[in-house]
Amino acid sequence: MTPTPIIVTGGAGFLGRQLCRRLAANGHQLKIIDLKPSPDYPTVIADVRDTERMRREVRDAELVFHLASLIEAGESVEKPARYIDYNIQGTVSVLEAMRYNQIRTLIFSSSAAVYGEPRRVPIKEDDVTLPINPYGVTKLAMEGLLSSYVSAYGFTGVALRYFNLYGPEEHHQPETHAIPRFIQQIYRGEEVTVWGNGQHRRDYVYISDVVAAHLLALEFTRRHHAEYHYFNLSTEQPASVLEIIGHLERIIGRSAQIKHFPGRPGDPLQLYADATKVRQAFEWQAATRLDEGLAATVRYFIHHWDDENTPGDTAGQHTP
Ligand SMILES: NC(=O)c1ccc[n+]([C@@H]2O[C@H](COP(=O)([O-])OP(=O)(O)OC[C@H]3O[C@@H](n4cnc5c(N)ncnc54)[C@H](O)[C@@H]3O)[C@@H](O)[C@H]2O)c1
Repeated sequence: MTPTPIIVTGGAGFLGRQLCRRLAANGHQLKIIDLKPSPDYPTVIADVRDTERMRREVRDAELVFHLASLIEAGESVEKPARYIDYNIQGTVSVLEAMRYNQIRTLIFSSSAAVYGEPRRVPIKEDDVTLPINPYGVTKLAMEGLLSSYVSAYGFTGVALRYFNLYGPEEHHQPETHAIPRFIQQIYRGEEVTVWGNGQHRRDYVYISDVVAAHLLALEFTRRHHAEYHYFNLSTEQPASVLEIIGHLERIIGRSAQIKHFPGRPGDPLQLYADATKVRQAFEWQAATRLDEGLAATVRYFIHHWDDENTPGDTAGQHTP
């Protein structure tokens, strides 16, 4: 008998790749669905918005990790309709394909963006959710869709609200995410751009801890059928932008030429969460200290750039 696969939509992305490697290492059969190929595994190149295609692809699945999404909050302000289409329509399409095939477990990548400007920190899951950009709106809508499929069709759903993920293999074009951008700027001796005074505190969660949470969520769904749950994935130990830069200066051994720009609207001073709920539900907690996670991330990027500059090497295929 062919083993039933776990579907990972967005499995060629930053988190998806590392999740897939961990699932494969644990003996799971995988089917990756993405718009682009994963460098690690065969990939079904498909758009999750294509429901007919999704119906065929999810047919034999055990469950779905739904990571596929557009992910840039700033870009979503410029292109709200695109975000609604990709993220919300994409999720409806995956859920409908699952319903058609009677596959009922979905674990979903949500975001701190559902909270908007928090009224208090640390944020708890049942605090007000009032997104301040279309990206956050789509994540909240995607959660609402999942919870409605749990109520209406007996799905089992878990939404994991990540705060700031970071770690090796995080690449964006252009690089919009703070940690890879700071590493690049400090390493190359470029100006380090900081919006506001650098005192903004964020909750930086290391990628392998986030991956570990997905494995625990998978086990959790086997014990909690036909229920919907949502959890903050948080370290509970926020760090300011200037603290991050300080760590990176020590690790890289170069000082940062910081250039401050005016603060951005909709950039809360504090954004971090309480993780009691996920700790109690599946005994997850962030295990990686910030300085260790940053050191591993710096090692990866420096190795990656060195590979890029070495003739004959294939950039992007380096595994940390
Ligand atoms: N990186 C973070 O800090 C962060 C924080 C909160 C939430 N998240 C969420 O985590 C998930 C993974 O994020 P990531 O950082 O790995 O992003 P990523 O951009 O590296 O990965 C997303 C993947 O989804 C794919 N994709 C997008 N639209 C698709 C479509 N219509 N059909 C098929 N594939 C599609 C992309 O090609 C990409 O490979 C996303 O849902 C994101 O919103 C990320």
